[in-house]
Amino acid sequence: MSAVDFERSLEEAAVLLCRARRVVAFTGAGMSAESGIPTFRDPGGLWEQFRPEELATPEAFERDPDRVWAWYQHRRRVIEQAQPHAGHRALAAMEAYFEEFTVVTQNIDRLHHRAGSRRVLELHGTILENRCHRCGRPYVEEPLPAETAPVCPACGGRVRPAVVWFGELLPESVFAAAESAVERCDVMLSIGTSGEVYPAAGLVWRAKSFGAAVVEINPNPTELSSIADVVVRAPAAQALPRLLERVEQCRKGASA
Ligand code: OAD
Repeated sequence: MSAVDFERSLEEAAVLLCRARRVVAFTGAGMSAESGIPTFRDPGGLWEQFRPEELATPEAFERDPDRVWAWYQHRRRVIEQAQPHAGHRALAAMEAYFEEFTVVTQNIDRLHHRAGSRRVLELHGTILENRCHRCGRPYVEEPLPAETAPVCPACGGRVRPAVVWFGELLPESVFAAAESAVERCDVMLSIGTSGEVYPAAGLVWRAKSFGAAVVEINPNPTELSSIADVVVRAPAAQALPRLLERVEQCRKGASA
């Protein structure tokens, strides 16, 4: 995308946001890429090096809990060292300018919370908490072992990260809250996601069918590009602070 196209798409997105009362920001791994957390499906991404079915399914954990635990412990360390970037902060700051602003994220890294977003729906859970795979009780003991999945003191089951794996259901109340925010929103920002994993990606289609304008922010084309009303082909940390500036301008102009 040329600099001129970038500016034009940014302006089109800003016009939509300036008219909007309710906004959903739907985020994926690309949102955290500039914080140093690898994505899944980009060149060099996690699913190029590892097979999801060996590490991110209940069957994989039941077969070899220690291997899956050690991989998540490694990812946890990467995430703990990461910091939210200007894009996360811009989304948090946007909340103030809308009647309703909901972040619906597929990310498990809690960077939206750390940047100050207050209404965040985590569709795929969080890597920063653990629970028993058998009885579901939260596991809060510290320190966590690096290589061996802890044993649940209540039932003797093995402890796992509180994330959603392939083949598992999304947390029902979180998904229901996401659907209702999506059905009400005027603008749906789709940021840093390939749109390949369902049911999460279906939320963008749902927003569109309920009449929202869809704005994609992603340096690359995705499964969702064809339904986007505006496509901003740029990284999140570059595009979002610029959008925030424009929203601030139009809101201040409107109240002047
Ligand atoms: P993917 O790895 O599938 O897609 C990442 C997207 O981010 C791609 O479309 C990139 O072009 C884009 N991207 C890369 N850098 C970016 C940047 N700086 N700014 C904006 N976009 C950028 O990740 P997800 O769509 O999140 O689920 O994947 C969805 C789910 O699949 C994940 O939640 C995870 C994974 O397997 C589970 O583990 C259950």
